[in-house]
Amino acid sequence: MKECTTLMQITTTRLLLRPPQLSDLDAWAEMMAEPASADPIGGVQPRSVVWRSLAMMAGAWQLMGFGMFSVIEKSSGAWIGRVGPWCPEGWPGKEVGWGLRRQYWGQGYATEGAIAAIDWAFAALNWTEIIHVIAPENQRSQALARRLGSTKLRLAVLPAPLEAVRADIWGQTRAHWQAQRAQLPLHDAAGDNLRERHE
Ligand SMILES: CC(C)(COP(=O)(O)OP(=O)(O)OC[C@H]1O[C@@H](n2cnc3c(N)ncnc32)[C@H](O)[C@@H]1OP(=O)(O)O)[C@@H](O)C(=O)NCCC(=O)NCCS
Repeated sequence: MKECTTLMQITTTRLLLRPPQLSDLDAWAEMMAEPASADPIGGVQPRSVVWRSLAMMAGAWQLMGFGMFSVIEKSSGAWIGRVGPWCPEGWPGKEVGWGLRRQYWGQGYATEGAIAAIDWAFAALNWTEIIHVIAPENQRSQALARRLGSTKLRLAVLPAPLEAVRADIWGQTRAHWQAQRAQLPLHDAAGDNLRERHE
């Protein structure tokens, strides 16, 4: 798994998913300067703090063999956000999370990327359940979870330093995913995880 971390990529109809790189910093910092995008994922941050987040995500890939993917719009080559597996120490489950720059909302990109990332988490990581940690007021994220077939499961209890964060755990099992995947919007566009390439 580990040797895949800097080389692997997943392609969908409109997106390329790959592990984060230092060259993502400019666009990532722009996303974290936009309140609409940043507020649900820790709040607006200066570039120096975003560098730490980028290094943390790259470090997760190095240490665990997975982390969130940087999402690239194929038509423009633009970094549009990050989507994918996330499970830091003490996390209440194996998460597939998401966050896109505001200008890329409303185009089905998060759905397309999330389907590909969930396929990969179940197949390559052999996860049997995924969760999404979502605040009660985050309607767009809840709508995306519903589009993916996830339901609200329980209250989230998050590890330090996030103990005070109020959130719900959404999610579904691999069996449920496999049973309903063909009915999802954009399931064709998301392709299948075995398209992942090792170059
Ligand atoms: C949560 C988030 C990723 C959802 O993004 P999104 O753009 O709403 O979700 P999708 O990419 O699936 O797009 C769905 C929308 O695209 C529309 N759409 C347009 N073209 C489409 C296409 N070809 N295929 C599918 N949907 C399409 C859908 O109709 C839907 O529109 P609606 O929002 O008016 O109902 C985004 O709001 C975000 O990044 N928020 C900030 C970070 C965040 O909250 N992260 C989660 C923390 S829990």
